[in-house]
Amino acid sequence: MSDIEVIKKEIEEQIAKAEDAKALDDVRVLALGKKGRVTELLKTLGAMPMEERIEFGKKINVVKAELETLIANKKQELETKLLNEKLKKEVIDVTLPCRPEVQGRIHPVSKVYEEIVAIFAEMGFSVAEGPDIEDQFHNFNALNMPPNHPARQMQDTFYINSDATKEFDMDTACVVRTHTSGVQIRTMEKQQPPIRIIAPGRTYRSDYDATHTPMFHQVEGLVIDKKTTMADLKGCLYDFMKAFFEVDDLPVRYRPSYFPFTEPSAEMDIGCLKTKEELKIGAGTDWLEVLGCGMVHPNVLRAGGIDPDEYQGFAFGMGTDRLAMLKYGIPDLRTFFESDIRWIKYYGFTPLDFSSMTSGLSNNGGLAR
Ligand code: DAH
Repeated sequence: MSDIEVIKKEIEEQIAKAEDAKALDDVRVLALGKKGRVTELLKTLGAMPMEERIEFGKKINVVKAELETLIANKKQELETKLLNEKLKKEVIDVTLPCRPEVQGRIHPVSKVYEEIVAIFAEMGFSVAEGPDIEDQFHNFNALNMPPNHPARQMQDTFYINSDATKEFDMDTACVVRTHTSGVQIRTMEKQQPPIRIIAPGRTYRSDYDATHTPMFHQVEGLVIDKKTTMADLKGCLYDFMKAFFEVDDLPVRYRPSYFPFTEPSAEMDIGCLKTKEELKIGAGTDWLEVLGCGMVHPNVLRAGGIDPDEYQGFAFGMGTDRLAMLKYGIPDLRTFFESDIRWIKYYGFTPLDFSSMTSGLSNNGGLAR
């Protein structure tokens, strides 16, 4: 047997014997490393006559490639063995009951979010997202609110300096979005009609009392197609409210309103009965405002790159914390964000009760209390 064959055989035996990744790597270094036995052989090539050099060089390279394959296979084998041992050791008995005292709760904001997505998904909407820190173009300008437009004062905006190394500059400042309406524009920029999206997310305004917090949640909706009308808007939102509040004969009404990004604009109210003790959603003599909506203004379509002579549509926006307060009888919005464990135990939901249109939305039994 030639030298090289002896060396090969020895290395093959060492590879076969290696018991773990470290041992295998040591073998690799000793064989193929900078000062390895095979590498050393390569170095002897220089002193050989041409013919022999070619012949021997080929041989070494073949051996080298074979050893590399052997090492790679062994590595794989060791990894599989290790994984199997680990899997055998880390057995989890999934049939064990959970411990109710350590079980977490789903926050009403998350619960309501799930419910809203479930209802709109059934109607063929998909979920779109946009950034919390928004530029003024998407939060205002493109929504038909150019600088100095009086409607900008409707919202108590938090502005952010867009360049921390310079003086605050109102023209280039960003905002933490005051509403989710900017996602309308971001969607139009990316997608041609037909469009049917909802955009849930966090929103921010400088406001603080029992029904306002500086951070709150909204869901925006946008539908654009060739023949989408105000009747579609009314039907869609009526179906949504009935499904959300789980009241079949829910009275609703639309009042004329003003939003810069819609024309005409409306606000939607649902019927309810307010007494000193309770608020009952459904037939009654009182009304509760639940959302703003309207037909998308042609300027907004244009800003999103859509031709208003060809397409039209409707949009709506609602405060989802407020919907959670109404549906689950939670009196103070500020408590939503205080992270009080007693509060979440009382108002939260059990994690296994997810919302769907077929198995039930809120599963009132799912209320933790
Ligand atoms: N962006 C409005 C707000 O925050 C809500 C809204 C009203 C959104 C009407 C809309 C709409 O898309 O059409 O008060």
